[in-house]
Amino acid sequence: MPANRVTVFGGTGFLGRRIVMRLARAGIEVIVAARHARDVAVPEASGKVVFRRTDVRDDASLAAALEGADAAVNAVSLYVERRGLGFTTIHVEAATRLARLAAEKRTGLVHISGIGVDEASDSAYVRARARGERAVRETHPGAVALRPSVLFGPDDAFASSLAMLARLPLVPLFGHGATRLQPVHVNDVAEAVARVLARDITGEVIELGGAGVHRYRELVRAAQQRHGQHHQLLPVPFSLWRALTAPLAVLPEPPLTRDQVILMESDNIVGRDATTFARLGIEPRDIVRVSFGDRD
Ligand SMILES: NC(=O)c1ccc[n+]([C@@H]2O[C@H](COP(=O)([O-])OP(=O)(O)OC[C@H]3O[C@@H](n4cnc5c(N)ncnc54)[C@H](OP(=O)(O)O)[C@@H]3O)[C@@H](O)[C@H]2O)c1
Repeated sequence: MPANRVTVFGGTGFLGRRIVMRLARAGIEVIVAARHARDVAVPEASGKVVFRRTDVRDDASLAAALEGADAAVNAVSLYVERRGLGFTTIHVEAATRLARLAAEKRTGLVHISGIGVDEASDSAYVRARARGERAVRETHPGAVALRPSVLFGPDDAFASSLAMLARLPLVPLFGHGATRLQPVHVNDVAEAVARVLARDITGEVIELGGAGVHRYRELVRAAQQRHGQHHQLLPVPFSLWRALTAPLAVLPEPPLTRDQVILMESDNIVGRDATTFARLGIEPRDIVRVSFGDRD
């Protein structure tokens, strides 16, 4: 049965708030579960969106946020490890705890994972995401794992950082900029979540990439063109980027992490045999057309 009441864990985040808006606009009651209240008002759905302070590390708070929900979405993230808060805590332990509770309550679950999850990765982040996704699917066989590629959209981190780089007099590349990416619009992923819930799809893994596969340097060039810049691109070896992240790691909000560098070392695109947006009848957008389409 399609869900009428959905808890979105991480519903204040970049992706989570788009999911909340999409569901609320469809008339679904949404519980936004996160540690800090942030404005996720959906004007045309007032009263349909309720905030519940939740820390996914805490069993009682997880259970309270799930109370009365037909389905849950896990869009919680942790990109940088901090003292006492590691990737395993959020991406494996808390994700599995949520899956266990949801399975016990017979609540549907959409788990947001990521393309390229790999338990053998050199990146602690990617390993934890992979272990978490596996544990969630083992614990809650009905759970659907959605694996987006890098997200773009209004106020994103990715296209904004390309736009910032494009203005530099010499633009450093990750390696030769040959890594292939398939950035996906945040609203297309939110639409995918809504359709999974509306169609009562269970137990699948769906990879979500945008309309275009682009090499990193092509995206930098597109961003430069958009801003009327033609500065030279400078290939920088990945080993140098990795070395650079070591001193940055002491900062509370490092601008670049070792895990992000490792992610840029491999293609991040939809697998050849993967189930994709087509399964959900969605035609995704392309980052070059949307974010770098017309000159200002
Ligand atoms: N952004 C991308 O390019 C990208 C690409 C592929 C996959 N993904 C995946 O998409 C999902 C969402 O990512 P995002 O970029 O939207 O993340 P985000 O903007 O960083 O948002 C994270 C959300 O999780 C909440 N949260 C963090 N710790 C929590 C805790 N202990 N208890 C409860 N809530 C907590 C945050 O709110 P509070 O801090 O207030 O708790 C916030 O609502 C993640 O699974 C991410 O790995 C993202």
